[in-house]
Amino acid sequence: MTSIYALILALHSTWRWIVLIILIVSLLRFAYQKKKRLPFTPTDNFIKKAVIIAFYMQALMGIILYILSPITQYFLTHFKTAVHLRQIRFFGMEHSSMMILAAIFLLIGSLKSKNADTDDRRFKILLIWFGLALLIVLSSIPWEFSPLTSRPSFRSF
Ligand code: HEM
Repeated sequence: MTSIYALILALHSTWRWIVLIILIVSLLRFAYQKKKRLPFTPTDNFIKKAVIIAFYMQALMGIILYILSPITQYFLTHFKTAVHLRQIRFFGMEHSSMMILAAIFLLIGSLKSKNADTDDRRFKILLIWFGLALLIVLSSIPWEFSPLTSRPSFRSF
């Protein structure tokens, strides 16, 4: 069990870079297409789907970690004391709930963009919802430089 935990933790840590790159590239692409008044192409649709798939894979790993992690287990079994411990509360509550919120924002953006009547509006919807999701993700990652909850930028497998 411990080795599965270590493996998923390393995967979850590494996959964050893929999620961030795809999300940022998608926003740059959508902004460019919108500015140049270009149509919403199959490439844009592919990029949109890639963001959703990459993010939901990360969320799935996160949910598995939530079940396996000694930190979240401690949080769940000692809730009254753990809720006052910054690092434990971060993974038990803040990180997970904010990332679920980001997943919902991505889904709303993706679904709403499908029903947009013009391509310009489609890009605008994606920029707003994916942009908000990126802000949430950036503020909820336990960055190595964070004085509050710091985790390594790269973990070895
Ligand atoms: C539903 C969504 C998510 C859940 C439930 C979740 C859950 C967790 C949990 C429980 C841990 C702590 C594991 C431990 O140290 O024992 C963790 C760590 C972490 N999560 Fe998430 N997570 C989610 C989404 C994300 C996303 C979207 C990102 C970034 C794109 C992310 C980045 C990280 C990073 C960088 C760590 C630190 C890994 C390490 O210690 O090396 N998580 N997550």
